[in-house]
Amino acid sequence: MAQPLVVLQDVNKHFGDLHVLKSIDLSVDKGEVVIVIGPSGSGKSTMCRTINRLETIESGTITIDGKPLPEEGKDLAQLRADVGMVFQSFNLFAHKTILDNVTLGPIKVRKKSKSQAEKDAMALLERVGVQEQAHKYPAQLSGGQQQRVAIARSLAMEPKVMLFDEPTSALDPEMINEVLDVMVGLAKDGMTMIVITHEMGFARKAANRVVFMDDGQIVEQATPQEFFTNPRSARAKDFLAKILTH
Ligand SMILES: Nc1ncnc2c1ncn2[C@@H]1O[C@H](COP(=O)(O)OP(=O)(O)O)[C@@H](O)[C@H]1O
Ligand SMILES: [Mg+2]
Repeated sequence: MAQPLVVLQDVNKHFGDLHVLKSIDLSVDKGEVVIVIGPSGSGKSTMCRTINRLETIESGTITIDGKPLPEEGKDLAQLRADVGMVFQSFNLFAHKTILDNVTLGPIKVRKKSKSQAEKDAMALLERVGVQEQAHKYPAQLSGGQQQRVAIARSLAMEPKVMLFDEPTSALDPEMINEVLDVMVGLAKDGMTMIVITHEMGFARKAANRVVFMDDGQIVEQATPQEFFTNPRSARAKDFLAKILTH
């Protein structure tokens, strides 16, 4: 039986007068990989950011594993550990080595011993293919390598779900696939993932569902096959026509 892990119900959010999330309902099952796609400014990032409470909401509910999001303190730190997030701009700590970037959270938040955290971190760095870079600093790595480190750093917290906000859009073209390959591997291993991306190759290979957003609303949801070959709404047709001609 599919079990909902992330559930948003009637979620609303404004930035000033701008209604950026309009009655969002979204349920993501354990092990499911959901792609969020839609025009710039449609609210994709804001929606993802509400899920680990980088943004607050005004009404509605969000639950992870059946529990409402905590508001502050220790519980909030725990939530951030349970909900991994990878951004477009890798956000590694520049003055820390790759290994320290990956072990920091597990030591501080998960209370792992340094030796255990380092052992686990090395295994993760190997999994994403950058174990040889462990003692370097972020600036010494390529963008693709840094983004793979960012993924390893999130995984080190043993998250229940991983959010990705355009993880490949700051990368040079030749580095996109090395990051997508790591993400496809994660999906195959059963990680629950919500991924904002326009990479259709990833959507076709790894996604169970595409969620199309426009103007703060979820306009349609379908399998990748259905969505890309037979979008139902005029807005999705229009959007796909634009990205496909690029
Ligand atoms: N911190 C903010 N303050 C004010 N407006 C914001 C803020 N963040 C996003 N917005 C606005 O909210 C809308 C949705 O933005 P966003 O969620 O980033 O969209 P997307 O990720 O789909 O491009 C946009 O109009 C954007 O300009
Ligand atoms: Mg965005």
